[in-house]
Amino acid sequence: MTIQEHTPQEPGAISRRGFIKMVIASGAAVSASTYLFRGSTLIGQGSLPGAVERLMTLNVNGQMRRVDVMKQETLAMTLRYKLGLTGTKLGCDRSECGACTVLIDDVPHYSCSILTHTVRGRKIQTVEGLESADGTLHPVQQAVIDEQGFQCAFCMSGFMMATVGFLKTNPNPTRAELAHGISGNLCRCGDYDKILRSMMRGAAYTQKTTT
Ligand code: FES
Ligand code: FES
Repeated sequence: MTIQEHTPQEPGAISRRGFIKMVIASGAAVSASTYLFRGSTLIGQGSLPGAVERLMTLNVNGQMRRVDVMKQETLAMTLRYKLGLTGTKLGCDRSECGACTVLIDDVPHYSCSILTHTVRGRKIQTVEGLESADGTLHPVQQAVIDEQGFQCAFCMSGFMMATVGFLKTNPNPTRAELAHGISGNLCRCGDYDKILRSMMRGAAYTQKTTT
């Protein structure tokens, strides 16, 4: 018997599976409000003197996005607070947790530690760009739903991006290889066993879709 069978559902109540599905594409399970304060130098700044020189075009999730970027601005800040791509999380903001992981030219990077001006002309992919145009989830996203992986899910988009990047170099990893490959990502809930199960399932699904 599952916990849901023990717990009467309110009419219209949403199941855990349904909730995960709802947020999986956007990585939006956790409120970004904490970071609005950290990013307050960026939010609402609008165009300041010199903005024309700072205008740049970023290739994000297959779209060319025109954006006004300060010299010292990190990619995580641009993605979250200028482009509204809040699926990329900010945990430590200093290259320790991996929550901010995105792909740059298909390689995972900590976006909190990369200046946006340095990725001019490169291909950036965030968790929002994993889903196909027709709404089909990426195999790694589907695997998270099927395994009901993650607890609070704050680390989820970082782990998914790290895994998608790792699978491009090793499409058929052992559990140990995958664990090593995504070891730059931390989970504050310590849910590593379930995360690894989800990511291994994601590797299997990815192989199926490419063979
Ligand atoms: S927020 Fe970038 S590594 Fe932690
Ligand atoms: S599931 Fe909560 S931080 Fe990883």
